[in-house]
Amino acid sequence: MSSEIKQQLRMQYLKILKNIDSKQKEQWDGSILQQFINSKYFHEANTIALYFSLPYEVETTKIIKILLENKKKVALPRMTEQNLVFYYINSLDELVVDNQWEIHQPKDTNQVVETKDLDLIILPLLGFNKKNYRLGHGRGYYDRFLSTPNFKALKLALAYKIQEIQLDVFFVDNWDVTFDALITNS
Ligand SMILES: Nc1ncnc2c1ncn2[C@@H]1O[C@H](COP(=O)(O)OP(=O)(O)OP(=O)(O)O)[C@@H](O)[C@H]1O
Ligand SMILES: [Mg+2]
Repeated sequence: MSSEIKQQLRMQYLKILKNIDSKQKEQWDGSILQQFINSKYFHEANTIALYFSLPYEVETTKIIKILLENKKKVALPRMTEQNLVFYYINSLDELVVDNQWEIHQPKDTNQVVETKDLDLIILPLLGFNKKNYRLGHGRGYYDRFLSTPNFKALKLALAYKIQEIQLDVFFVDNWDVTFDALITNS
């Protein structure tokens, strides 16, 4: 079983993320944001799902603002017991913090997104490897969502270079879903 290796990696990469100097982080976030805006992923997608970043994750609030300014349809998740449900938002002001992880989420009164309508999803991650596998927070929310039958969006990972896991030991499980594309700080 890889679960112990994964759990160790999570602790290791969470620590790496939390130790990034704030000026450094700002610069890397800016580089990732610019590359995203210049990419075909931004230009070609109309309906985009993404996460609301925690302080140590690749920052997404600026991305959300830019998407909204460009009249893209923006979807953010709410966690249920087992799954993620995505809701359309029109403004960051609509978000609430009503969970133990302090994650900003849309209210469940917002319009629910049909999975088949998503063109692009931007994925959060603690670490990744060369084979496009992602290490998440370990609750399986994204693996479950990405494997729903009518899911067809392009899966884009945003990550800092230092999040690449250089490990010979294969830490992947059969339920892990790969991402399609990656943008890192240059
Ligand atoms: N498609 C699935 N169906 C049922 N259970 C799943 C599925 N995907 C993942 N899980 C469960 O979720 C748990 C966590 O998975 P994993 O360790 O891969 O988390 P993760 O990829 O770090 O988290 P996340 O997907 O939230 O980013 C596993 O114990 C697994 O049993
Ligand atoms: Mg996984």
